[in-house]
Amino acid sequence: MRRPFISANWKMYKTTGETRDFINAFLPAVKSVSDVDIVLAPPFTSLAAAGELLKGTNVDLSAQNMYFEAEGAYTGEISAKMILDLGSKYVILGHSERRQYFGETDEFLNKKVKAARAAGLSVIFCIGETLDERNSGKMFDIIKRQVVGGLKDVDTNGLVIAYEPVWAIGTGVTATPEQAQEAHKFVRDQLRNVYGDKADDLRILYGGSVKPDNVKELMAKPDVDGALVGGASLKPDSFEKIVKFR
Ligand code: PGA
Repeated sequence: MRRPFISANWKMYKTTGETRDFINAFLPAVKSVSDVDIVLAPPFTSLAAAGELLKGTNVDLSAQNMYFEAEGAYTGEISAKMILDLGSKYVILGHSERRQYFGETDEFLNKKVKAARAAGLSVIFCIGETLDERNSGKMFDIIKRQVVGGLKDVDTNGLVIAYEPVWAIGTGVTATPEQAQEAHKFVRDQLRNVYGDKADDLRILYGGSVKPDNVKELMAKPDVDGALVGGASLKPDSFEKIVKFR
């Protein structure tokens, strides 16, 4: 049985004060949820504040990015050790916004995933096709390339996958549950080629305009094991409803 995994991705939103306000409202609301892994991913600047408030609770913390070197002269970058130090258990890697706006390639991301895992940081690894790639019939090739390239020489421990069709991110257009299931099944088949039966234990999250009113039908699909939520995770009551999707 794969335990549901629901993560917020706050992107470049929320100051430390706004982060504290969110967490103070959110924690009591989800205190009784014991059958879902719940994760918040604030920006770097709010990680320390969030880490303190989430300590010992049923909500885990994630960073949104990191660099693969352990330390050194890399102005503006953050290492896995620094993220762990703030109480963060996860890091999101491979998000389409990182691929698209910051030119992160499969090879580069593979170095980050390996560095995160070597340091003991769990990874939420994102993959997904653009609308052009889908329309031109390249969707499956792209997903396969992202899985094989990004996860080369990485084992399944501490790994969560997020399938996020780029055309559904922040657009209000959600993949239908059927489209999500089709892609998730394909992703799991690719993972099976790499990991064998262990692929059946890996959680594959869906991301792209997940909201309180569509999460239940997405989660009902056999290969959809959770959600990575952007816009609808910014308000405590909205994210609470998603976490309580049942
Ligand atoms: P969205 O973002 O929920 O705002 O579409 C999802 C994501 O980018 O992880």
